[in-house]
Amino acid sequence: MMNKIAVLGTGNMGKAIIKGLLQNKVYPPSEIYATRRNLNQIQDLKSLGIHTSTDNRKVVSDSKWIIIAVKPHIASTLLEEIKSDITSNHVIISIVTGFSIASIRDIIGINASIYRAMPNTATSIQEGITCIAGERSNPEILGKVQEIFQQLGETILIEEKLMDAATVIGACGVAYALRFMRAMMQGAIEIGFDAETASNIVSQMVKGSATMLIENGLHPEQEIDKVTTPMGCTIAGLNEMEHRGFSAALIKGIKTSYHKIEK
Ligand SMILES: NC(=O)c1ccc[n+]([C@@H]2O[C@H](COP(=O)([O-])OP(=O)(O)OC[C@H]3O[C@@H](n4cnc5c(N)ncnc54)[C@H](OP(=O)(O)O)[C@@H]3O)[C@@H](O)[C@H]2O)c1
Repeated sequence: MMNKIAVLGTGNMGKAIIKGLLQNKVYPPSEIYATRRNLNQIQDLKSLGIHTSTDNRKVVSDSKWIIIAVKPHIASTLLEEIKSDITSNHVIISIVTGFSIASIRDIIGINASIYRAMPNTATSIQEGITCIAGERSNPEILGKVQEIFQQLGETILIEEKLMDAATVIGACGVAYALRFMRAMMQGAIEIGFDAETASNIVSQMVKGSATMLIENGLHPEQEIDKVTTPMGCTIAGLNEMEHRGFSAALIKGIKTSYHKIEK
């Protein structure tokens, strides 16, 4: 068996993962397989030297690291399709939302290593956060799984029971953050900026705010305290947002997303 990486289901996330791996140059294109049914959609990957194919079974036979990146309702069918090609030397890494390690093992019925990973779309620019769960008894394999996703940003090891929560915070969270940014841009236009300038200011402001927390290891409220002058405009606006349910709406939305994941 080759030491190749195969991404089965190269849609948004599969592509983001492959693009992240390519940027880093740790895995040459010749070591990466990508499958989907409509190959026209991954011509760009083919032109970068990735092996593209519609044949999941062949790709599984030629690879060791198998990343399952299809939609949840397709995962069972895909696993049924490839199960006779999976050996105990394969390492299966599923990024499928709400699909447990036990369900995967039930289908493939073999003692291959199985991990779940929850990346987000920022993996495509190597700024992702990927939560990883799975057995920790084989540090070599776990290390390699982490290494794959470390090419794409940061990784955090979690218990599998937290995988749905990781999905909401790490992956859905991109949409929440971007919707917040869009709302800020709309506000910025109301108070005088054109759309492009608003976008530039808001994007850099959010990037800078996040970087301050990451680099200084602080709680958000500590940085908020520095911006809120007594009787000033920041605290007035912030309190108005809270009166209108800003934090409450966000927390309620997070819980709604969490409960929407099929258990
Ligand atoms: N989007 C996110 O931010 C995110 C983050 C973390 C995890 N996830 C999880 O990642 C998975 C993929 O999400 P996505 O947003 O990337 O979905 P997506 O864009 O729909 O990608 C899935 C791809 O699978 C392909 N596919 C379908 N049946 C297949 C088959 N039998 N063999 C090979 N390929 C097949 C589809 O292409 P064809 O129709 O051409 O085959 C499609 O492009 C989901 O389970 C999702 O829950 C998503």
